[in-house]
Amino acid sequence: MDKKMSRKEFLAMGAKTVLAVAAVTACGDLIALGADTKNKINEMTVGEDNFITSRAELEKQKALNFVYKGKKSILLYNDGEIKAFENICTHKGGPSKLKQDKLVCQWHGAIFEPLTGEALKGPAPKGSKLPAIELEEREGSIYVKPVKAG
Ligand code: FES
Repeated sequence: MDKKMSRKEFLAMGAKTVLAVAAVTACGDLIALGADTKNKINEMTVGEDNFITSRAELEKQKALNFVYKGKKSILLYNDGEIKAFENICTHKGGPSKLKQDKLVCQWHGAIFEPLTGEALKGPAPKGSKLPAIELEEREGSIYVKPVKAG
């Protein structure tokens, strides 16, 4: 079956191809934008005074992302307990967010216990833990506990 295409049919096919390529490109951009938006986490950098936030603010927000000594970290409030961990997944380093009562990695879905930082569900290695950050609380404010040198 050898059918010759008219000039009009040829141009119409070309226009459809251009539209299809544009649609795929736009869709790809939207998917990339969606992924970027989904993984974006607002965070503040802890200064020399080691202050992170007030207890009242943390009780309200439940989780707060911060950067301490260049490492992404997360501060969590859970039923009166305050904990902080380096927020670097033990699988491939993704950031986690608090969802209901669990920390969920935004890259591949590993689940961590927010009181201990222990991996509850892969792909993070079983038994691995997010490194804990020691805290101290003074007069309603939460600080990273300074590590003593030597
Ligand atoms: S980086 Fe967290 S599950 Fe893969």
